[in-house]
Amino acid sequence: MGGGRVIPLSLAAIAEITGARPHLVTDPAAIADTMVIDSRAAGPGALFAALPGARVDGLDFAPQAVAAGAVAVLAARPAGVPTLVVPDVPAAMAALASAVAGRLPGLTIAGITGSAGKTTTKDLAAQLVERLGPTVSPYGSYNNEIGHPLTILRVTAATRYLLLELSARGAGHIARQCEIARPSLGIVLCVGRAHAGEFGGLAEVARAKGELPAALPAGGVALLNADDPRVLAMAGRTAARVVTFGRGPGAAVRATDVRLDDQGRPGFTLVTNEGSAAVRMRLFGEHNVTNALAAAALAAELGLGLPQVADGLRAATNRSRWRMEVTQRPDGVTVINDAYNASPEAMAAAIEALAAMARGRRAFAVLGPMYELGSQSRALHEEVGGLAARAGVDGLIVVGEEAAPILAGAKAEGSWHGELLAVPDAGGAVEALAARLAPGDVVLVKAAHAFGLEGVALALTGEAAQ
Ligand SMILES: Nc1ncnc2c1ncn2[C@@H]1O[C@H](COP(=O)(O)OP(=O)(O)OP(=O)(O)O)[C@@H](O)[C@H]1O
Ligand SMILES: [Mg+2]
Repeated sequence: MGGGRVIPLSLAAIAEITGARPHLVTDPAAIADTMVIDSRAAGPGALFAALPGARVDGLDFAPQAVAAGAVAVLAARPAGVPTLVVPDVPAAMAALASAVAGRLPGLTIAGITGSAGKTTTKDLAAQLVERLGPTVSPYGSYNNEIGHPLTILRVTAATRYLLLELSARGAGHIARQCEIARPSLGIVLCVGRAHAGEFGGLAEVARAKGELPAALPAGGVALLNADDPRVLAMAGRTAARVVTFGRGPGAAVRATDVRLDDQGRPGFTLVTNEGSAAVRMRLFGEHNVTNALAAAALAAELGLGLPQVADGLRAATNRSRWRMEVTQRPDGVTVINDAYNASPEAMAAAIEALAAMARGRRAFAVLGPMYELGSQSRALHEEVGGLAARAGVDGLIVVGEEAAPILAGAKAEGSWHGELLAVPDAGGAVEALAARLAPGDVVLVKAAHAFGLEGVALALTGEAAQ
């Protein structure tokens, strides 16, 4: 991870683009062709970006990177080895990314945003668009001020499509990302409560996500989810042509006859202006129909024919981990590791998927806290508890003090008779499950990423924690 391709550029050119001051650079004509942020990934031709980390300072590893062949170091201070000194390393990476993207007029850039489903949609879209030509898309959820430029810097002269996951924690973030690499196509999935606390409310979330359609050029295409009125309203904020996708009959790219198989995998009829095709997905959960429609709409706009789109969706797998990752244990217990992240919408989608997958089997939900919800946090946790109870889960295991309102919400559903349990941490959840699970049971594990609940799922599946 962390390797980027800086289309061969001389150190002099990089210094000019980033405004860097060269230090101990003896050969300004030396060529860098890869950007790395991990000195262990450095090799001949690498430019090592030294970033301050939580535990270590990248600068300490500069000599190691150069010894491994790196041509220079991009850093905020001279590193005692050939260094391009800049005031702000991420900003310099962004400048370089911007220059690289701007140098490739043949490159088509698509941005993907929304409160939930960005990574999944990006992975689905990549698996379709790769059928049209060389495609670069982020590893995992690489969408922050480091991951975004690093992804862009992986493009080469041969790359035809660049897919970018655009995330926002406040106004202006997406607009800024769209300036670094200018998308001509943009998908908006949904406006939800993820990070709503930091934004203020849903109207502010909508305004921020709308920065993507607003950034698209007149010749571009805004791909909007017609099922979400806040997203559909973004049609008024773009100069680009609008193409809608969704479950409703009005969407240009839509799904009919949606159903889940006995394992919770969706099947549907994909309908576009080219006709219709049957799709059975390998991903789990009905929410993935929306993600599939968004990916299909993008690929179709780029010229992939309907049979290929449908075939690609049938074949597509989960490329990024801990998102509805389903493991069948030899003893017949099914583990759904959806612990990558949690927002109210994602909790709802996952609980619905659990209920659909259980169907007659016992369902357990192990739920931890959701973060960054602001003043609505308590009410939204209670809502999740209510949802789990109404979905009829047999056991609800609430992990951690911050998630306690989930218990209250479940208790408030008078007609529900499942078991309700509070445990302090992941270890407590593993113990509680060990005492309860029997062959045939289905367990969902989900919480905010920072809570680290994936350890429970990994313990259940016998994998080592990462
Ligand atoms: N279309 C959707 N609607 C609602 N929930 C969804 C949707 N797609 C995915 N989810 C839920 O959200 C979780 C995270 O999915 P994904 O990683 O694709 O989203 P993301 O938008 O990239 O999240 P992040 O903001 O953390 O990068 C999934 O595990 C699933 O529970
Ligand atoms: Mg993501």
